[in-house]
Amino acid sequence: MSTADLVVVANRLPVDLVTGDDGVGRWQAAPGGLVSALAPALRRRGGAWVGWPGVPDAAPEPFADPDVGDDVTLFPVTLDADEIDAHYEGVANAMLWPLYHDLIATPVYDRGWWEVHRRVNARFADAAAEVAAPGATVWVQDYQLQLVPRMLRERRPDLRIGFFLHIPFPPVELFAQLPWRTEVVEGLLGADLVGFHTPGGARNFRWLAQWLCGADVDDSPIGLREAPGEVRLGGRTTRVGAFPISVDSAALADRGADPATAERAEELRAGLGDPETLLLGVDRLDYTKGIQARLEAYGELLADGRLDPASTVLVQVATPSRERVDAYQRTRDEVERTIGRLNGDHADLGRPVVHYLHRPLPPEELAPLYLAADVMLVTPLRDGMNLVAKEYLATRPDDTGALVLSEFTGAAEELTEAWTVNPHDVDGVSSAIADAAAATGSDEGRARMSALRAQVRDHDVARWADAFLEALGGQADEDRARR
Ligand code: ADP
Ligand code: F6P
Repeated sequence: MSTADLVVVANRLPVDLVTGDDGVGRWQAAPGGLVSALAPALRRRGGAWVGWPGVPDAAPEPFADPDVGDDVTLFPVTLDADEIDAHYEGVANAMLWPLYHDLIATPVYDRGWWEVHRRVNARFADAAAEVAAPGATVWVQDYQLQLVPRMLRERRPDLRIGFFLHIPFPPVELFAQLPWRTEVVEGLLGADLVGFHTPGGARNFRWLAQWLCGADVDDSPIGLREAPGEVRLGGRTTRVGAFPISVDSAALADRGADPATAERAEELRAGLGDPETLLLGVDRLDYTKGIQARLEAYGELLADGRLDPASTVLVQVATPSRERVDAYQRTRDEVERTIGRLNGDHADLGRPVVHYLHRPLPPEELAPLYLAADVMLVTPLRDGMNLVAKEYLATRPDDTGALVLSEFTGAAEELTEAWTVNPHDVDGVSSAIADAAAATGSDEGRARMSALRAQVRDHDVARWADAFLEALGGQADEDRARR
């Protein structure tokens, strides 16, 4: 088997195997921000991507997918149905996800699941060890695979190993709940470089390495995009830093500037009855995304007349996600009930106040929606970064529009000119939506959008990947020189 000098290891491949109504399997883009960010970064460099194809027992041979890139070889890791239950739906999404998102749902600490999780992480480490060329760089991704760096280091000490966490790293007193907390920190310390979206996450991790593992740590401040701090344990150094992820700004801007996109945006607005104000939400259907919070705030604005139901429309696009996990089923029920109530209370015949799509949209349909929207609503209760906010800004061709952004997203640390909100404060969210809607196109609205768009233009996903890989490469060279 051929090996690669750069290997991305992620829970999922960038494409999922889906079976159509005709019974034929085909590959389709996998959901979520990790794939949207990493696919362009890896496409630029070429290499291999190790991951699960999204369904039980699938064991295809390594392959390339035209949508990901001809120079990227995809190496499937096979999981059976019990492993998906315990590792993916259990540990990843019913234990770590709620724990790392501030306990919005209650984590389930199941010991049986953890055994399987360990075994699955070892399988990913085996696959990466097989695919990586001598001295290769292996970049492990996200909370599902936190045990992999150490396992991989044991198998292949010659590799440069990086790890990036795409979700928030929790406050230390919450992380302390995890029965396997030391194993997770030790797992991550197998990497040469551990990256987080925000300095706070990096500092929490460094503190835990000292507390749980007795590591020797420096007390550098660790700022956004600044030099990583150091954690020393067992004769090795792991660096820990903040690398805020982003989007492929130029590609999105090209799409936004395409006359066909503008034309489609016009059509969409016309199809929605040419509203004065078009509000937009685009999310995976996840309880962390605060969809319910924005619906409640919107409902209050319609009820008290600050927004006119005859001339305002909210489009909410929600990608189905993790549908077998209880908390996700409850969230879907709640969101759909609220949308029904809002339309029942405020819609006219043929004029719903909320248009709801429960499916993913292809990029060529998302871009016109971003152009059509006067106000983008991004209101998570907690989110590692939130790429939708950045996609909206990168796609829009001018300084009209407005972004309402939760202060509990990683993006809020950079996008300081947005209309920031505390999503738990319904009054605050409704006022921000009303103010943002009123400001779009005004001097203030334009000044804000201009600053926001510049931020995303200047800090794109290529810069993120370069910064991480340079820090990883430079550091591994230094360590080698020291030995
Ligand atoms: P997460 O990684 O938690 O899903 P992000 O906002 O960081 O959240 O990334 C979500 C990604 O998924 C973005 O690239 C966004 O365009 C995409 N996405 C979200 N909802 C949809 C949808 N309904 N249709 C298509 N893409 C979507
Ligand atoms: O960023 C969090 C994350 O879990 C990513 O790893 C993934 O791209 C996205 O959310 C979607 O999640 P899932 O793979 O569970 O559908």
